[in-house]
Amino acid sequence: MINVTDAARTILARNDRGGYTVPTDGLYPFQWNWDSAFVSMGFATFDIDRAYQELERFIQGQWNNGMFPHIIFHVPSDSYFPGPDVWQTDQCHSKKPLTSGITQPPVFGMALRFLYETVLATGRHDMLARTHTLFNAALRSHRWWLEARDPDKRGLVAILHPWESGSDNSPAWDEALVRVPTTTKTEICRQDTKHVNATMRPRNIDYQRFIHLVEVYRECQWDPIKQWSHAPFKIADVQMTAILARATADLIWMASQLNLSDALGELFTMHQLLINGLNSRWNQHIRGFVSLDLISGKDIEKPTQTCFIPLIALELDSYQRKFIQEEIERWCQGMVIGIPTTAPFSPDFESKRYWRGPVWAVINWLIADGLRKNQLKELATIIEGNTISVIERAGFCEYFDPITGEGLGGNTFSWTAAAYLVLRR
Ligand code: DGY
Repeated sequence: MINVTDAARTILARNDRGGYTVPTDGLYPFQWNWDSAFVSMGFATFDIDRAYQELERFIQGQWNNGMFPHIIFHVPSDSYFPGPDVWQTDQCHSKKPLTSGITQPPVFGMALRFLYETVLATGRHDMLARTHTLFNAALRSHRWWLEARDPDKRGLVAILHPWESGSDNSPAWDEALVRVPTTTKTEICRQDTKHVNATMRPRNIDYQRFIHLVEVYRECQWDPIKQWSHAPFKIADVQMTAILARATADLIWMASQLNLSDALGELFTMHQLLINGLNSRWNQHIRGFVSLDLISGKDIEKPTQTCFIPLIALELDSYQRKFIQEEIERWCQGMVIGIPTTAPFSPDFESKRYWRGPVWAVINWLIADGLRKNQLKELATIIEGNTISVIERAGFCEYFDPITGEGLGGNTFSWTAAAYLVLRR
């Protein structure tokens, strides 16, 4: 019988397209931003050269202004919509590969530290030049984040498209999305529902709004200043900010390891700004952190996983720790597997529909990491253990139904395999 660790490595090998990894065959045939960062950590558990290569292929798509795009279209494929013909971003970075025009959570910096710790532990001193190159790309991307997505210096970075959050159809975006028109000039040719049952995916009306937003930003020629002023969807997102803050702390650690004292001051300033911003988003009613709709000026009081992600960056006080622990336990009550990405007692909860309830292994990985950082080790261990067992039972699925434990979405998913490899270590 094949052991599950070997099976996880096999998934990564099968999804390897020559130095970069697709999230899964067919449904997602290119290199995705945060998927790749998680995947590189999975590779680092058994093949550090390949782990570095994953990030190296990814930075080939970095834009001249520093942005890391959310998709790198290394080779053409017609199994995904919207492709490069819809994005039309060719002018935004000096050379191929073509890319999408928006970004995704900056897990890259966290991954780079993970990889470099592995290098240090194994004495691979030949990796220094490669590490420097990746560090510089990460630093440029963090600068882009603060300039382009926090021009008012709130210490909170904004998403301009739900796809940027990675949690595309989360109830957190419902109210803000209602303001986005459903009209599009582009013909919408969804490919995702050819691979996965439509009941597990965003609805057609969501896609109309997603594509409308792409068209607005395409008309801004992807210029960050124009996009900021024309955006019909603009959310200062605590999940994104927390990942950026944590990645910034990881770059600070890298800069001190690599004796890059010039970068340190800038990174410390960035980090402090983001930590202050995040701390200001605690919400006693939700018992977690909440994002801010920058157009309506309203707090987004929806109970989604976003509320817990700031644990990866912050040191909570003892009350916050207690409330968050109680809240996570409440969300998991009666579930075969936690943590649901939308609270099961919420009217928005749908146990099978993408980001409206299902459990995602990488989200559990992040939250468990945040719990550990905040001395909630017992709960972290339970979440990690449950994640490992659901994967062992249901396979390397894209996400899992919290009520039944059933595997959903695409199968043979790279980041689920990576989560298994890292959590099982
Ligand atoms: C999709 O196409 O489903 C993605 O989540 C967008 O990145």
